[in-house]
Amino acid sequence: MMRSTSALRALPRTAQLVNTARAFSASASTSFASPSDAPTPAAGSKPPAVKEFKIYRWNPDTPTEKPELKSYKVDLNQCGPMMLDALIKIKNEMDPTLTFRRSCREGICGSCAMNIDGVNTLACLCRIEKDTAKTTKVYPLPHMYVVKDLVPDLTLFYKQYKSIEPYLKNDNPPEREFYQSQEDRKKLDGMYECILCACCSTSCPSYWWNQDQYLGPAVLMQAYRWIADSRDGYTEDRKDRLQNNMSLYRCHTIMNCSRTCPKGLSPGRAIAELKLEMATGVKAKAMNP
Ligand code: SF4
Ligand code: SF4
Ligand code: FES
Repeated sequence: MMRSTSALRALPRTAQLVNTARAFSASASTSFASPSDAPTPAAGSKPPAVKEFKIYRWNPDTPTEKPELKSYKVDLNQCGPMMLDALIKIKNEMDPTLTFRRSCREGICGSCAMNIDGVNTLACLCRIEKDTAKTTKVYPLPHMYVVKDLVPDLTLFYKQYKSIEPYLKNDNPPEREFYQSQEDRKKLDGMYECILCACCSTSCPSYWWNQDQYLGPAVLMQAYRWIADSRDGYTEDRKDRLQNNMSLYRCHTIMNCSRTCPKGLSPGRAIAELKLEMATGVKAKAMNP
């Protein structure tokens, strides 16, 4: 997913917190002195493999200062292999003010989602590009308000998720457990694994322009996950709520969402299946047959 400056400029957002500021700060790149800038190899050890990382910085405590890219140099021989390792090393050893989210460091919590070299992904699942001649650039997820540095404001994203009522609704539950055939259970595969990292929604041009009304791929795939669930008693109600111009039908099958998902899911396909079911009444097929 490539960043577009003209696209960023068209965002209908106020100037202070939006990523549009990146466009103005493209040249405002400052270098950051680091202890590992020019490491001296110990006798018999590998020569240093120093790589430059340019990282988006913006501090809400100094809102009049434009965002900038700060440069950090890391010896890859002294660092773990993933982008999250590099960020943690920079924060621990060079600049404790660098702010980003992370928790599990194994692709489960979804909190380390960010844009690395133009691709929305999870920092803990993204290998550092070994070529030290290439600088790696790191930005927060695009087209979102920024809380600080690499931390996007996901308030609207979670509000949209809440709006689809992402839990089982059934007015006549069985006395004991709900039974489900293996075939019906399979229909949830490829959807229930979503970790709500928001990489897909923030790569979707329709979501960039209409996120106040369009639900976006992550939330729509979860809407479909509950529509496809044979145990849920509110299938028609859930579909009715999507039956308007904006919530679902702003998806134009561009498929950025499926290309970028770091968990290998296909929200674009889920949306296509959902549209088909809404139009024809044909029931969901298994996403991973
Ligand atoms: S579908 Fe993939 S990219 Fe989208 S929120 Fe879920 S895990 Fe993240
Ligand atoms: S397929 Fe739909 S949801 Fe996915 S990127 Fe394209 S427009 Fe957005
Ligand atoms: S730290 Fe949890 S997904 Fe990356």
